[in-house]
Amino acid sequence: MSIKLLVLVFSLLIIFTRPKLIADHHLYPRISPFYPSIPPFLPPSPSLRAQSPAVKPSLPFVPALFVLGDSSVDCGTNNFLGTLARADRLPYGRDFDTHQPTGRFCNGRIPVDFLGLPFVPSYLGQTGTVEDMFQGVNYASAGAGIILSSGSELGQRVSFAMQVEQFVDTFQQMILSIGERVAERLVSNSVFYISIGVNDYIHFYIRNISNVQNLYTPWNFNQFLATNMRQELKTLYNVKVRRMVVMGLPPIGCAPYYLWKYRSQNGECVEEVNSMIMESNFVMRYTVDKLNRELPGASIIYCDVFQSAMDILRNHQLYGFNETTDACCGLGRYKGWLPCISPEMACSDASGHLWWDQFHPTDAVNAILADNVWNSRHVDMCFPTNLETMLHHST
Ligand SMILES: *[C@@H]1O[C@H](CO)[C@@H](O)[C@H](O)[C@H]1NC(C)=O
Ligand SMILES: *[C@@H]1O[C@H](CO)[C@@H](O)[C@H](O)[C@H]1NC(C)=O
Repeated sequence: MSIKLLVLVFSLLIIFTRPKLIADHHLYPRISPFYPSIPPFLPPSPSLRAQSPAVKPSLPFVPALFVLGDSSVDCGTNNFLGTLARADRLPYGRDFDTHQPTGRFCNGRIPVDFLGLPFVPSYLGQTGTVEDMFQGVNYASAGAGIILSSGSELGQRVSFAMQVEQFVDTFQQMILSIGERVAERLVSNSVFYISIGVNDYIHFYIRNISNVQNLYTPWNFNQFLATNMRQELKTLYNVKVRRMVVMGLPPIGCAPYYLWKYRSQNGECVEEVNSMIMESNFVMRYTVDKLNRELPGASIIYCDVFQSAMDILRNHQLYGFNETTDACCGLGRYKGWLPCISPEMACSDASGHLWWDQFHPTDAVNAILADNVWNSRHVDMCFPTNLETMLHHST
């Protein structure tokens, strides 16, 4: 039996036997956006490494958090889709606040959960009432990319352009419910966290879908992605979005899947993959910087996940990690061969690991990334400023 077939059979098994989920949004209190200063809901931090940044008393007014992206920030969208990319059963979520799977591709929290902004429901997991969206909505979908067909071999997913459309729909519903002026104020004060693009490499370019490698050099391909990103950011700007965080792509050349696939000898990262990602990040940073200066009143920051992740990898001992190559959950060399699909495949303690599964970092890594996005706690990874400074300077 081929590997692919094996994975497919496993995955189908999961889809059809998945347990009933506790809908995420029932866990968190609703807060009205009309109070001038909302104390963000902060469940106790599960990680000792990260100090949740929002305990600072001076958090500027942010009524809501909107998230667009892929599995790096999916909080349950894919639970409602027919896809192999799902995280709706244990061991996913085992170290989350509720110790239950939610659809997050992590043992615990994803980066947006550490920002001290509201915990928000996934777009497809909302109750459907307008009140449900006043604290924000998460549209992110695992497997999705900037290119419409990226990730199609996994099944259904919501591509970036579609997520932007879904937000426009949310915005229209808000206008109908609370009026244009209030809705616009709500949106323009909210934070938009955008983390997408890596699947355009994992599931499209590197797999040479549609002969793309013959038609596009890596450099031309990243230009294509950046042009599309630029277009979508402008669409968001046109519906009054002002405060945006654009996340760069992570060093997937160091992820267990590629270590396994490229037969890394001693866990060295796959340079061929990482150099494509670095080029792409370079172009995206330039694109965001340019857009930031073109659009009046826009505050867009670009956060270089690659740089921050490599800092963690290099200084892993200082951060308290002792396992830098092997995923906590998976099968095969580096635990990178098969995806994480059962609790038996997982290590007992993920806290020393950088990688949770084939592609996704652990909760502990996400906490550090979030701290860096928020206030450059360990590394200055956001340009031109970190999120905290951006919020203080944009009104
Ligand atoms: C990409 O796929 C096409 C066929 O679809 C093939 O001709 C080409 O050699 C492949 N390119 C690389 C670099 O593998
Ligand atoms: C990492 O540390 C844990 C706990 O101290 C230990 O059980 C584990 O064997 C260590 N792993 C490695 C790869 O050194």
